[in-house]
Amino acid sequence: MRTLNVAMIGGGFMGKAHALAYAAMPMFFWPAPAIPVRKVVVDVTAEAAETARQRFGFEEASSDWRSVIARPDIDLIDICTPNDSHAEIAIAAAKAGKHIICEKPLARTGAEAKTMLDAVAGGKSVHMVAFNYRRTPAVVLARKYIDEGRIGTILNFRGTYLQDWSADPDSPLSWRFQKAVAGSGTVGDIGTHVVDFARYLVGEIASVNAVTRNWIASRPKQSGNVDKLGVGGGDKNAERGAVDVDDEMITLLKFEGGAVGSIEATRNAYGRNNFLTFEIHGTKGSLSFNYERRDELQVMFADDPGDARGFRTVYTGPAHPYGSDLWPIPALGVGYGETKIIECHDLCQAIVNGTQPSPNFEDGYRISLIADAILKSGETGEWTDVGR
Ligand code: NAI
Repeated sequence: MRTLNVAMIGGGFMGKAHALAYAAMPMFFWPAPAIPVRKVVVDVTAEAAETARQRFGFEEASSDWRSVIARPDIDLIDICTPNDSHAEIAIAAAKAGKHIICEKPLARTGAEAKTMLDAVAGGKSVHMVAFNYRRTPAVVLARKYIDEGRIGTILNFRGTYLQDWSADPDSPLSWRFQKAVAGSGTVGDIGTHVVDFARYLVGEIASVNAVTRNWIASRPKQSGNVDKLGVGGGDKNAERGAVDVDDEMITLLKFEGGAVGSIEATRNAYGRNNFLTFEIHGTKGSLSFNYERRDELQVMFADDPGDARGFRTVYTGPAHPYGSDLWPIPALGVGYGETKIIECHDLCQAIVNGTQPSPNFEDGYRISLIADAILKSGETGEWTDVGR
C-alpha cells in the first residue's frame, strides 16, 4: 500500500486534530487510499517540536520548516500554524512540488490567498483547505438531498457560528485578536466556516451587506504562542494589549443563483459553545443542522403528510455519506475527530488519484474574497460585491 510522508507545521490545537486523523484514518477507511506516515513535526522551538513529536507520534522534530520542505522524502506539507504564516509556507511547499493541506482561513486577505492560489496553479501539488465541518456526515447528507432536488430550488440560507470562549474581557490576547496575525476576528476565524457551508450547499455568493463590531478593545497579554482559547481565563493583572479585529459579524447575503441569506458569527455569545448551524428553505422543503447535535439532520419535505408537517430528525449512520466507514449503528455519534479523519481520507484519495479535492485553494481564495467583502461592508455599511 502506498505511503505518504507527512510534515506537519504547528503542533497546537489543529496539530492535535490532524495528527489524530493521520493515525486513525486507515482504521476507519480500509483499505486506505494511502497510509499517512507521521514523519516530522515542526514548531517554533526545538523544545515545542519535541513535545509535539512525543505527543502526536511523529518520527522526527524540527524547528525549521524551510529545511523540512526541502527534504525529498516529504510528500505532504500540513500547515497548522496561525494565519500569518500560511502563505509563506504554502508558497515554499508549492515551489518544492509538495502536496499541501492548509488550515483555514487560507490567508489573512483575498490578495494573500491569491498568491497561494497562483503558486499552486499549473503545478503538481494537490491542495486542500481544511474546512472540515462540511465533512460532518449530516452536512454531506444535506448536500445529497439538495443535489437530488429533494428540497427544490433554494430560497434562503440562514447560518450562524456562535461561541462564548472569548466573552470574558479578561480572556487572553492570543494571536486570534491581532489583525497582523489573524487577518480578522470572527469573520475569518469562524464566519468563514459558515461561508464554506453556504457555498457548498447553495452556491457562489455575489454580494454582502454586513455589520461588524468590536466589543472588547483590549485584553491581557498572554505568554507563549499557543492560543489558550480563553481556557482558564486571562491574568487580570497582566499588561493589556489592543484588540484590532471584529468580535461580531452579521451579514446579509445574495447568492449568484438568486437565493438570499444571512450569517451571524460571534465569540461573545454566553451560553453558546460551538453553535454552528444552518437552516435552508427550498421550494419543496427545508433542512436544518446544528453542529452541537451533529448526528442529526432536521428535514421537512413539502409532500410530507398534512398531519405530520414539521421538522423530523434523521440520525446519520451507515446508510449515509461516509457512514459505512465510521460506526456500524446510527447515532453512535461522530465527533470533531471524525470530520478530520474524513478530511484526511479525501485528501489522501485525491493525492493517489491525482485530482484536486474540495475545498481546495481556489475555494479558500473565494472564501477570503467573501471575508474581505464582509469586512469592507462592515466599514461602509453598503452592499458590497464579492468580485472574482
Ligand atoms: P494554536 O495556537 O493552538 O497552535 C499553533 C501552533 O503553531 C503553535 O504550537 C505555535 O507555536 C505554532 N507555530 C506558530 N508559528 C509557527 C511557525 N512559523 N513555524 C512552526 N510552528 C509555528 O493554533 P490553532 O488553533 O491550532 O490554529 C492553527 C490554524 O488552524 C489557524 O489557521 C486556525 O485558524 C486554524 N484552525 C482551524 C480549525 C478548524 O476547525 N478547521 C479550528 C482551530 C483552528
